[in-house]
Amino acid sequence: MTPDLLTSAREVRENAHAPYSGFKVGAAVRSASGEIYSGCNVENVAYPQGTCAEAGAVAAMVAAGETEIVEVAIIADSPTPVPPCGGCRQKLAEFGAGNVLVTMATLSGETRRMTLDDLLPGAFAATHMDRS
Ligand code: THU
Repeated sequence: MTPDLLTSAREVRENAHAPYSGFKVGAAVRSASGEIYSGCNVENVAYPQGTCAEAGAVAAMVAAGETEIVEVAIIADSPTPVPPCGGCRQKLAEFGAGNVLVTMATLSGETRRMTLDDLLPGAFAATHMDRS
């Protein structure tokens, strides 16, 4: 894990718009080119319209013309390293191979690392739409 990815996630977390949950999350993805794209959660008064930090990071990467994630970092002010929600696991798996490492972190510096395969075993993939 290169510290710059976690630093990016930590910095972008400050910009999170989380007035309803009070739970700010920062995420950063490194793409195949080596570039870092970051995102924060953006809540909405119509609660279901809120978006997760990981979704923001993925959207920034795709908007920049990249489609391959090689590393992920997620950070929040949580008692244990914050894992991505189910929907975000699927979003990350769309662009990252199963062996991509996801570093989950707390603000106090505790980290945990898992692969995308660990986080989303048996993921639904494009191959499942192949006709038999
Ligand atoms: N949240 C994320 O940004 N990423 C996750 O993977 C877990 C949850 C946000 C969504 C919401 O704004 C807040 O955390 C509380 O659920």
